[in-house]
Amino acid sequence: MIEKFKNTANFLLERVKFQPEVGIILGSGLGGFANKIENSISFDYKEIPDFPVSTVEGHSGKLVFGNIGNKKVVAMQGRFHFYEGYPMQTVTYPVRVMKFLGIKYLFVSNAAGGLNPTFKAGDLMLINDHINFFPQNPLLGRNFDELGPRFPDMSKTYAPELIVKAKEIAKNHNIKLQEGIYIGSSGPTLETPAEYRFFKSIGADVTGMSTVPEVIVAHHMGIKVFGISVVTNTATPSTPDGETTHEEVQNVAGTVEPQMTLIFNELIKSL
Ligand code: HPA
Repeated sequence: MIEKFKNTANFLLERVKFQPEVGIILGSGLGGFANKIENSISFDYKEIPDFPVSTVEGHSGKLVFGNIGNKKVVAMQGRFHFYEGYPMQTVTYPVRVMKFLGIKYLFVSNAAGGLNPTFKAGDLMLINDHINFFPQNPLLGRNFDELGPRFPDMSKTYAPELIVKAKEIAKNHNIKLQEGIYIGSSGPTLETPAEYRFFKSIGADVTGMSTVPEVIVAHHMGIKVFGISVVTNTATPSTPDGETTHEEVQNVAGTVEPQMTLIFNELIKSL
């Protein structure tokens, strides 16, 4: 496995000729951040050896290298979801590769459903913790000690110093930023009303179908993680029919994407 991660990373490093310090994963409808990357060099996932290919609409499937200010970054425009049928090892493959590219930080974003009754569609939420409600953990199986420990401590999975800085940035730019806990489950079904209530009752503020596997794997390898959820819909719907569509999720995400981009940008420059 490790040889495979290294091979994929070396293929990319030989072409871009620099090591990125920050990895970024852009969620549904949030790919616009990649346009802010200067001097960019991008790769379609399908041209990268051993990289999976994404199947969801709105995920274009590109790895974009370049600069944000004086920081070297690599961004995934489109991620791999467990609900697409990939094993956890595949879902998290790009994060393992990013480690071998040299990243020290991973910034993750996602579209999520709001459970906290004070959240509205269009809010941004800083992720300060998560609940892994996937039926699997991406670290199941043999542990490779050169990657990270068998039993990783998860008490500070989302880097506290980045949370502090992000709050300052949001305040300085008058961006409303909620804070809370992301629960990740497999999907692809959205939650029933009973499931929304259940997730809320066990302490989650937003719910989604991604992020947790990648964050666990990054944290396992000692990468500092920062995450933002875009609340695209709520468990207490304001629409008369109360239904959630993928189109709505993407539209709302697209509307607030500039604010999320601003926070990511400023935070990366401050590292
Ligand atoms: N549930 C799960 N995943 C989601 C949701 C939701 O309500 N909205 C966006 N992604």
